[in-house]
Formats: sequence, C-alpha cells, structure tokens
Amino acid sequence: MISDPPRIETATGTDWPEVVALLAGTGLPFEDLGEGGALEVLVVRDDAGRLVGCVGLEGEGSQRLIRSLAVAPALRGHGLGSALLAAAEARARTEGVTTLYLLTLTPAFFDHRGYHPVARDAVPEAVAASAEFERLCPGDAACLTRALDPAVEAT
Ligand SMILES: CC(C)(COP(=O)(O)OP(=O)(O)OC[C@H]1O[C@@H](n2cnc3c(N)ncnc32)[C@H](O)[C@@H]1OP(=O)(O)O)[C@@H](O)C(=O)NCCC(=O)NCCS
Repeated sequence: MISDPPRIETATGTDWPEVVALLAGTGLPFEDLGEGGALEVLVVRDDAGRLVGCVGLEGEGSQRLIRSLAVAPALRGHGLGSALLAAAEARARTEGVTTLYLLTLTPAFFDHRGYHPVARDAVPEAVAASAEFERLCPGDAACLTRALDPAVEAT
C-alpha cells in the first residue's frame, strides 16, 4: 500500500542500492549512477518501507534530462508513475529549468503528458553529453522534450 497522495522524497545515499535494484529489475540504465554528474533522484516507498518508485533529474542549468522513471511492476497503473513525473517536473521548475528531455522505449506514457518527439541532433550539448544519450540508451529509444512553464512564485 502507498499513502495517498504518495510521499515523494529526495533520495539519499542509503536509498541508492534499492534505486539500482529497481532500475535493474525494470531494464533501465543504472550503470552511470555513481559517476558523479549532477543528478537528483526522487523516490517513493510503500507503507512497509520498500522503495517502489523513482525518477531522476540530471544535469545543471535550464535544460535537463528526465531519466530513470520506474515503478515496481506490482504497483503500476495506480498513478504512481504520473505522480513521480509531476514531482520531477515541479522540482525542475523550482530550479529554473525551462526544457526537459528524455529517452524512452515507452513514449506512449509521455505523449499526453506534455512531451513531444524531438530529433536527437536538436538536443542541446549539455544534455546530449549525458551517458544515457552517449552510450546507455538504445538507438531506437524515442527522444522527447517538454517545455516547462516558469515556477509560480509564492506570494
Ligand atoms: C512507465 C511507468 C513508470 C508508469 O508507471 P505507472 O505507475 O504505471 O504510471 P501511472 O499509473 O501514473 O500511469 C499509467 C499509464 O501509463 C501507461 N503505461 C504504463 N506502462 C506503459 C508502457 N510500458 N507503455 C505505454 N504506456 C504505459 C498506462 O497505460 C497508463 O496510461 P494512461 O494513464 O496515460 O491512460 C511504469 O510502467 C514503468 O516503470 N515502466 C518501466 C520503465 C519505463 O518504461 N520508464 C519510462 C521511461 S524512463
């Protein structure tokens, strides 16, 4: 069971082994996670404390990569993936990100969530230099992008 709404938190070092296990089990790249580039990971746990979902926001500056969106198979279809994506987008907005990019083998999940296809050679160098783009994602992965509205300032 998951709290409603799910409590999505920033991962710490102690979450790392479970993040890697979830990504490995899902077939998503994890090999570069310890390479030291700028990466924020958000995670969600079930009521028993098991890590059941994650999403990453990689890079610095106004253009970044969404990656590693994964939900444990038994919990899919209940809105957790959407909540994680929305949380990563909200985090990105607060950090001044204006454009997100991602590579995925499941583009259908993203196509009514504000993302649209973009040519790989139109992706800015800062994002295209990531390990996902350079070596980890298969060449047939769809490349998608989304423009973000600026964060709404608290009044
Ligand atoms: C994609 C993923 C994160 C969705 O998680 P989730 O908790 O099931 O997502 P939600 O419950 O919020 O939404 C379910 C929606 O995703 C769709 N969906 C789930 N898996 C899908 C897949 N493999 N291909 C296409 N659509 C998929 C469902 O049909 C449903 O559609 P709708 O809400 O738009 O009508 C999850 O299926 C997953 O971990 N997949 C493997 C890893 C992956 O592909 N990650 C994305 C690329 S980084």
